[in-house]
Amino acid sequence: MIDGEARCSGQQEARNFLGKSEGFEHAPGPTTPLTRCRTAPRPSDLVCRKLRPGESGVYRALRLESLKRYPDSFGSTYAEEAQVSRLAFENAIDEGTSDRFVVAAFLRKQLVGIAGFARRERHKTRHRSEITQVYVDPDARGRSIGETLMRATLEMGFAQRGIEQVELSLVSTNHAARRLYERLGFEAFGLQANYFKTGDLSWHQLHMQVTQERFLAVDPA
Ligand SMILES: CC(C)(COP(=O)(O)OP(=O)(O)OC[C@H]1O[C@@H](n2cnc3c(N)ncnc32)[C@H](O)[C@@H]1OP(=O)(O)O)[C@@H](O)C(=O)NCCC(=O)NCCS
Repeated sequence: MIDGEARCSGQQEARNFLGKSEGFEHAPGPTTPLTRCRTAPRPSDLVCRKLRPGESGVYRALRLESLKRYPDSFGSTYAEEAQVSRLAFENAIDEGTSDRFVVAAFLRKQLVGIAGFARRERHKTRHRSEITQVYVDPDARGRSIGETLMRATLEMGFAQRGIEQVELSLVSTNHAARRLYERLGFEAFGLQANYFKTGDLSWHQLHMQVTQERFLAVDPA
């Protein structure tokens, strides 16, 4: 994970990452080989499902905890989000919307992970969606819960009518998250330099996407 590692020094890291000095690169590589999923054992008592109306409180608690514990992994800050009386996904959970939802991982009925899914809203972008706020409690890490949660989110997302591609973004030094996303078929298509900045520190943002076709082509673990 990227705690402490995420700090980088501007342009240098951008060059290293995509081999370019430009801040933003287009062109996903259609020829990139598919990454095969591993067959790591998963806890048998793991359940991944959408959060339901009435469960926005547990989501909020884990979301705020993620921001507090991993400030370098997310664009929002704990201070900002803690002040918001209703986070966007809280309303979505309690309204039970189908275009915007949170998939949760429960281990022995305890909430240990979340991933938010949101369809883009404009007429010409409604075939696309974004996954955000991915988080697994550190005590539950390294057991494929992140991968299982992401796979469940993608399956539910692609089951939505008309969804053809899913996008996400991550801080470029978050190597564990990137490997996880690549295992599910995501491909990087751009690196935006100095996307986040606080004081003298800056972070680059890596943009990734997966099509339904590619996701289905990756062997399930
Ligand atoms: C990124 C994150 C969600 C991954 O969650 P996770 O549950 O640890 O994910 P997985 O278990 O599926 O995979 C992570 C690693 O655990 C290892 N692992 C998985 N199952 C394992 C098992 N049974 N035994 C040992 N190791 C295992 C994997 O090898 C993988 O490491 P690798 O990439 O070097 O191969 C989690 O680290 C996290 O919440 N980080 C902080 C917030 C964050 O960065 N979110 C992403 C924002 S874009």
